[in-house]
Amino acid sequence: MRNLSLELILSCSYLFCLICVASGFVPVDNYLIDCGSPRNSSIGNRTFLADNFYSDILSTTQNILASTNVSSLSSSYDSTLYLTARIFDQASRYTFPIKEKGRHLIRLYFFPFVFGEYNLSTAKFSVHAQNFTLLKDYQLDKGSVVKEYSFNITTNQLVLTFMPNSGSFAFVNALEVISLPIELIPDSAGVVETPGVKHNLQNQALETVLRVNMGNETVHPQKDTLWRLWVSDDTFLKHSAVSTVSNIDAVTYKNGHVTENIAPASVYGTATKLDSDRDPRLNANLTWLFSVDAGFDYLVRFHFCDIVNSSLGPFFFNVYINSWFAYANFDLSTLTSNIIGTPYFFDVITSSISSSAMSVSVGPSSESSYYPMAILNGLEIMKISNSQGSLETSDSENGSSKTNSRSKIILITGLSGGISILLVFVLVLFLVCRRRRKLAVVGHSKEEDNFVMNMNQTGDTHSNGLAVFSTSKFRYRYPFTAIEEATNNFSEDLIIGTGGFGKVYKGIFRDGTKVAVKRGQSKSRQGLTEFRTEIEMLSQFRHRHLVSLIGYCDERNEMIIIYEFMENGTLKSHLYCSDLPVLSWKQRLEICIGSAKGIHYLHTGYTKAIIHRDVKSANILLDENLMAKVADFGLSKSGPEIDQTHVSTAVKGSFGYLDPEYLTRQQLTEKSDVYSFGVVMLEILCGRAVIDPSLPREKVNLVEWAMKWRERGRIQESIDTYLVDQASEESLWKFMEIAEKCLAKSGLNRPSMGDVLWNLGSALQLQVKEEKQSDEDGLVPKADWVGYQETTTSASTTQFSRGSLGNLAGVSMSKVFANMVKEEMR
Ligand SMILES: *[C@@H]1O[C@H](CO)[C@@H](O)[C@H](O)[C@H]1NC(C)=O
Ligand SMILES: *[C@@H]1O[C@H](CO)[C@@H](O)[C@H](O)[C@H]1NC(C)=O
Ligand SMILES: *[C@@H]1O[C@H](CO)[C@@H](O)[C@H](O)[C@H]1NC(C)=O
Ligand SMILES: *[C@@H]1O[C@H](CO)[C@@H](O)[C@H](O)[C@H]1NC(C)=O
Ligand SMILES: *[C@@H]1O[C@H](CO)[C@@H](O)[C@H](O)[C@H]1NC(C)=O
Ligand SMILES: *[C@@H]1O[C@H](CO)[C@@H](O)[C@H](O)[C@H]1NC(C)=O
Ligand SMILES: *[C@@H]1O[C@H](CO)[C@@H](O)[C@H](O)[C@H]1NC(C)=O
Ligand SMILES: *[C@@H]1O[C@H](CO)[C@@H](O)[C@H](O)[C@H]1NC(C)=O
Ligand SMILES: *[C@@H]1O[C@H](CO)[C@@H](O)[C@H](O)[C@H]1NC(C)=O
Ligand SMILES: *[C@@H]1O[C@H](CO)[C@@H](O)[C@H](O)[C@H]1NC(C)=O
Repeated sequence: MRNLSLELILSCSYLFCLICVASGFVPVDNYLIDCGSPRNSSIGNRTFLADNFYSDILSTTQNILASTNVSSLSSSYDSTLYLTARIFDQASRYTFPIKEKGRHLIRLYFFPFVFGEYNLSTAKFSVHAQNFTLLKDYQLDKGSVVKEYSFNITTNQLVLTFMPNSGSFAFVNALEVISLPIELIPDSAGVVETPGVKHNLQNQALETVLRVNMGNETVHPQKDTLWRLWVSDDTFLKHSAVSTVSNIDAVTYKNGHVTENIAPASVYGTATKLDSDRDPRLNANLTWLFSVDAGFDYLVRFHFCDIVNSSLGPFFFNVYINSWFAYANFDLSTLTSNIIGTPYFFDVITSSISSSAMSVSVGPSSESSYYPMAILNGLEIMKISNSQGSLETSDSENGSSKTNSRSKIILITGLSGGISILLVFVLVLFLVCRRRRKLAVVGHSKEEDNFVMNMNQTGDTHSNGLAVFSTSKFRYRYPFTAIEEATNNFSEDLIIGTGGFGKVYKGIFRDGTKVAVKRGQSKSRQGLTEFRTEIEMLSQFRHRHLVSLIGYCDERNEMIIIYEFMENGTLKSHLYCSDLPVLSWKQRLEICIGSAKGIHYLHTGYTKAIIHRDVKSANILLDENLMAKVADFGLSKSGPEIDQTHVSTAVKGSFGYLDPEYLTRQQLTEKSDVYSFGVVMLEILCGRAVIDPSLPREKVNLVEWAMKWRERGRIQESIDTYLVDQASEESLWKFMEIAEKCLAKSGLNRPSMGDVLWNLGSALQLQVKEEKQSDEDGLVPKADWVGYQETTTSASTTQFSRGSLGNLAGVSMSKVFANMVKEEMR
């Protein structure tokens, strides 16, 4: 007892310390210079040191300290910093010793004034740091500006160079170099335009374009732990159906992973939201428009926090950048465990913005039956340095970039060598025009004919395409040589799966990205169609619970699809036929919920429902955290509304999982997936194969066998013995009930995936409740089975079903179709 309370006190004080540290961030490297000033200047609780204090880290002594009397300066940053400046007549370097490697923040303060013969408004100069170009040919006519950059410093010094243009001079009013908290900038982020592609940020410089606080209120640097300025959003807001909310006291950092360094409470505590109070059927987007430099990639960070505390249901909406999904069906309530006031943020990269406008929207999701609600609390837009390490467009581009930015930009990124410029230029222009059309088609149309056309077109341009577009958004078309290298020339040792379509290899690209490479076997017509369907599907969908597309390759008549690599393989391999550790009931429920979310999204996330057609445990993959993602869209078809006249003759799917109604009527609906999902649920529950011919006759068919015991009210006879001991009985029954409904003979009687999801949620809750209770009681969870003693046979059952054949479920449909029909007729 004593020990316990001591421990408690210790951990409390430890926590308390953590909180202390978190609230006032103290940078390890912290250089604050009030350039040109003879005095130290206190700004809030920071002191910008007099210019001469740091004169030893500056390369030149021939420079001029300037000052002004202008007091009519309005700035969100403290104006005392602007009253003095240092003028550089020649290239000059600051060399800052760096104690802590990692990302640092550099702020440069500029305010042009007239000092003797120097009119700072005429100064024109560049600023470089490490190998990055921060400013190029920069000139500031009037007004004050704070430029903010961050990049990773990997050596023990930072060299900041001010380089006047010839005949001109450079100046700076104040500067800051501070180390940043490690959590602030991620190592990489996903690209909006190419789902599944991640862009590494570790070696890139970022320039803050804007930090916006939604809710029509500016947050000044003194209220931010990192002295950032968050401007009010009202000047960027496009829509009128908005309202603002403010509830700063509700913000709490104790749940979740967000710290005050990510954004202060004054940012999370105010928001702009869709004004749906007056119209519960309001269907509109909330849009902000920002002006950015075309031709760069941007890191965009969205900050959310439910401060509304409404009883109107969960927050569930879509987030867009320039009409692309930044996050489809963003479920803030679930992500913050329904705790009011918990901050949440996510990052995305938007690639090659083609015009100088960036629009950011939030709006109700068509998938949601909830009250229309969309909210945004804060937004950060950061420009990412280009392949030349520059944050500025170069001279050659300047001329026409404003008018025809898109083609120009791609030209710039493509031209690194500068040889045969004319030839490449013509080629690029040609490709850009064609690709632009095509991409639009791939992104927004589902008509297969169009897609076929695209594929053919890309086929004949590939050899040049990749070199030229290596940094553009077309990066998801990979060269065959890169794939060969990644898979060690399709080494047999790297095979991680084989299916009707071909073999799947594990691949590692040069940058260390692990991928799964699916290589089509033959160029059969059917294979080609499925190949296209799958790329088309994958490039449209972006969801946490769907395996994402990284790229594809159709060079040399290959049909290769590159997916994100799923560390833990198939769900099937975790259920039976392997030595992998047994999954707990809670894990199984979470996997089941995850895959149901994926399928639900397919059914409802797009204007036309997508039917997966091959839902099975071998098509549910698990990542390193055992999060489930649905894979293999090769057979997918859009729903009946466009298919009404079309009677699908080729029955596709996998043996054992096929909807009997589909077999007899050959009519495909979402409910066919629901049936297959019901079969997967039984596999999860019973831990055995769907069809296992090695078992005694009455047990061969899992569905029949499980349902038989279900009817007799003794499901424990059929379920995985491992679960009998550790799962909540209520939860198991609930689960069985859902599975049974999914397996209803008639599609009409089956629930929708949304209903399934909802019910699975309550099955999980039942289990969690039981676990909590037994934790409190200090007992090992154990279901109190009626007639438990009678079930001694079940142990032996599962024992030999694990490790038995059970592989039929993976066999491609066409081969077993005949057999199956016979089986079903019986
Ligand atoms: C600086 O002041 C701000 C607010 O005025 C406060 O939140 C922060 O903790 C202070 N930082 C330090 C290092 O004292
Ligand atoms: C400015 O502050 C630094 C460090 O606190 C101190 O060493 C220095 O003497 C001060 N300079 C002036 C001009 O007050
Ligand atoms: C600042 O103002 C004072 C008096 O108002 C004047 O004597 C001085 O020359 C001014 N300095 C500059 C740099 O304008
Ligand atoms: C300083 O330069 C700017 C821009 O070239 C010009 O508009 C302004 O009149 C100049 N000021 C003086 C005092 O010469
Ligand atoms: C700058 O680039 C050069 C050559 O690319 C490299 O050797 C050097 O380490 C880089 N410097 C820094 C500070 O990254
Ligand atoms: C900085 O770069 C080094 C080397 O590339 C890398 O190991 C490190 O993780 C990077 N740090 C950050 C914060 O990006
Ligand atoms: C924002 O606040 C200003 C005044 O503070 C007001 O004029 C403006 O209408 C507000 N905008 C919105 C969108 O509420
Ligand atoms: C949310 O609303 C409920 C009831 O309206 C109230 O009890 C609770 O304190 C509120 N929570 C917050 C964080 O405002
Ligand atoms: C919201 O914006 C997205 C992307 O631009 C668009 O697809 C959707 O139709 C818009 N919704 C409404 C209601 O305007
Ligand atoms: C770059 O563009 C700006 C604005 O369009 C123009 O004022 C400037 O002269 C251009 N610079 C060069 C070097 O072409």
